[in-house]
Amino acid sequence: MNSIVKKILPEQQVDRLRDARLFLRESGASRFVTSAQTAGMKFASQVKPLASAYYALVSSKFQREERAVLLGRAKYHQELQENDANVFLMRRNVHRLEKGLLMKPRRPVFAKDYILETVNVYRKIVAEPWRSAENSLDSLRWGYDVLSEYFDAVAADPVVDRARAVFEKCPPPAEACAANRDRIPYLRNLAEDPVSFEQLEQLAIKRRSVRFFDRKPVPRELLDKAFTLAGLSPSACNRQPYRFLVYDDPAIVDTVASLPGGTIGFRHNIPVVVVILGMWDAFYSEKDRHVPYIDGSLAAMSFSYALETLGLGACIFNWPDIEAHEKRAERVLGLKGYERPIFFMGVGYPDAGAMVAYSQKRPLDVMREYNAPIVAD
Ligand SMILES: Cc1cc2nc3c(=O)[nH]c(=O)nc-3n(C[C@H](O)[C@H](O)[C@H](O)COP(=O)(O)O)c2cc1C
Repeated sequence: MNSIVKKILPEQQVDRLRDARLFLRESGASRFVTSAQTAGMKFASQVKPLASAYYALVSSKFQREERAVLLGRAKYHQELQENDANVFLMRRNVHRLEKGLLMKPRRPVFAKDYILETVNVYRKIVAEPWRSAENSLDSLRWGYDVLSEYFDAVAADPVVDRARAVFEKCPPPAEACAANRDRIPYLRNLAEDPVSFEQLEQLAIKRRSVRFFDRKPVPRELLDKAFTLAGLSPSACNRQPYRFLVYDDPAIVDTVASLPGGTIGFRHNIPVVVVILGMWDAFYSEKDRHVPYIDGSLAAMSFSYALETLGLGACIFNWPDIEAHEKRAERVLGLKGYERPIFFMGVGYPDAGAMVAYSQKRPLDVMREYNAPIVAD
């Protein structure tokens, strides 16, 4: 029930209102409205244009996502046209080159469709690193090493040679060393397992959503260790289209913790709030619109495990797509239109005297199915 109503009315009145609402929900009129709505939705879902019309005319629930996708695409394409550089394009293309280099068997010439584009975006970022979000040299060294390896590996070809000429004019990024390419595809040492299944299982069993924390401040060194580990997570085309916004200043933590609804009852004791922010300017097409959610969530899971090994605990707070919440978050956090929270997390030292939920997991036989029937293609 609306929290304002709960605050202003005496408890008895609130109970009466709740009863009346339940009565209405069970009434014939309410059932009629619900079944009419269901029939409308079923009808609209039969044909794609009707479904689109439904979401254009009847419901505006997808509008925020549509806007973020469109704004992100506009920024991406604008950066291609102007003398600017989209770091996500560089990351994606350098990774495509990596995949070409490790392919078995490796083709004598590959990447002809995008090698010029790759070299051009790399050239712009090397020339003016501050124009891209990537101000660390790490990505540039990776780009330099992979491009150098690529040009050494591929056979002569007019397109490749044009790209090579552009690349050779670029100054190598600081600390890059042509003789020591250490950021290129390599063979892993499979002989050593850093952790056993049992150790990982123990970690997974121990990790639980922690909602009550000690008042102790959380050292940023520990948080940064966990973020660095989170950054090792897999990500579609290695773009990593997310950022972690971290709030540990007691003067603002409560405001940020109040943005998601799911912190009621314990938000006062959360020492650190992290916003996992999706970046929709990483994509040239709508087809990748779900990637920020996927990649951000994978990183958040690694982050949770890392925290656990450091003696810290965390709880994810849901970020359902609610217009008023989105607007408030955009304003309070100063977000761009192509940036949207994926979810929030509370982090801190667990209060040893506070319980965690048992949260029974679904049985193996229900959650996995081998060789589900398929239709031959
Ligand atoms: C996407 C997502 C949203 C969640 N939102 C909330 C939330 O708003 N408030 C909360 O207290 N817990 C939230 N949780 C925590 C879940 O309730 C919890 O992960 C689940 O019950 C399983 O328990 P466990 O994490 O202890 O294994 C969320 C978890 C996920 C993954």
